[in-house]
Amino acid sequence: MPDYSVAVSELPHAIEWKDGELYLLDQTLLPQQELMEQQRTVEQVWQAIRELKVRGAPAIGIAAAYGLCVALKDRVNLSVNEFIKMAKEKAAFLDSARPTAVNLSWAMKRMVARLDQVPKITSRQLYESLIEEAEKIHAEDIALCQGMGKMGAPLIKDGMGIMTHCNAGSIATSATGTATAPMYMAHQNGVRFKVYANETRPLLQGARLTSWELQKAGLDVTLITDNMAAHMMATGQIDMVIVGTDRVAANGDVANKIGTLGVAILADYYQIPFYVACPSSTIDMETACGRDIEIEERSGDEVTTIMGKRIAPENIKTRCPAFDVTPNKLVRGIITENQIITAPYDEGLREFFKGKENG
Ligand code: MRU
Repeated sequence: MPDYSVAVSELPHAIEWKDGELYLLDQTLLPQQELMEQQRTVEQVWQAIRELKVRGAPAIGIAAAYGLCVALKDRVNLSVNEFIKMAKEKAAFLDSARPTAVNLSWAMKRMVARLDQVPKITSRQLYESLIEEAEKIHAEDIALCQGMGKMGAPLIKDGMGIMTHCNAGSIATSATGTATAPMYMAHQNGVRFKVYANETRPLLQGARLTSWELQKAGLDVTLITDNMAAHMMATGQIDMVIVGTDRVAANGDVANKIGTLGVAILADYYQIPFYVACPSSTIDMETACGRDIEIEERSGDEVTTIMGKRIAPENIKTRCPAFDVTPNKLVRGIITENQIITAPYDEGLREFFKGKENG
């Protein structure tokens, strides 16, 4: 019987809540420096999300949930009504940090909803119930990662080459990641396979983060530049692609880090299965299709520089969409915590949530 438990404590952590204080791993410094930075204000948490100090869809939802607690820590003397009003304002503020990953607004809605579910006796009690909710979101994410690992690991066979894009790993979540969860589980169960991590320009999450965390965990990981993906597939070195996602629309279209669409089209051309792994909190049934997903446009500085060093002429025009949308027809399956959902996605996703409601 395979062992599906992975020692989460041994993996790098992006988020810590300790003695009522929030600490975030500054991922912009990796892999050179591992710095846990205390978050003292809600503005600092907003900035950390905006600047990708904390990043990855599930992680920004969890960080924002704790960020709301940071915002309200010194407001427990407010009246209950004023406290609730302020909580809603700060939740909206945190939600504005980045638009594409639905986990951010999902977490903020859940935190605000908690205020309606508890007796409104004192602001301190409301504050404590918000901490409880943030800790719950955090703890649940560990179980979700475990579930995705369990569902996805059997897809990975001895000798396979698996490509991934961006970082959908432990530091993008609170445990074994989304795309990496099946990899960690298969590795733990003795399956021997290679992971090819695309570097992921412009901010190099593949080069700086995925290759770092997988290497640290003892997986066989090889870093390639983004423009090597076609060659690796054409020469038979890739058997499967697994990526994470920031938002899945109700029809199964998938938004993920810029460059994912190109990888999916290549995988289709070379008949390589392309899987997406995500927890249910990343599936947005209120967004009908990929066209309706807001794609974050970031500063052109991310294109004209690499790690702070300018590589392009002054005054060059740039574009910097941070995500792209892969149409559902290119997706072989969506690996969730409970099942692998396959086409037709509109029906599959509806049934998935119906199943959850019915327990
Ligand atoms: O801009 P980022 O680094 O936050 O983008 C992250 C991604 O695109 C990940 O693939 C996605 O959030 C899945 S994380 C488990």
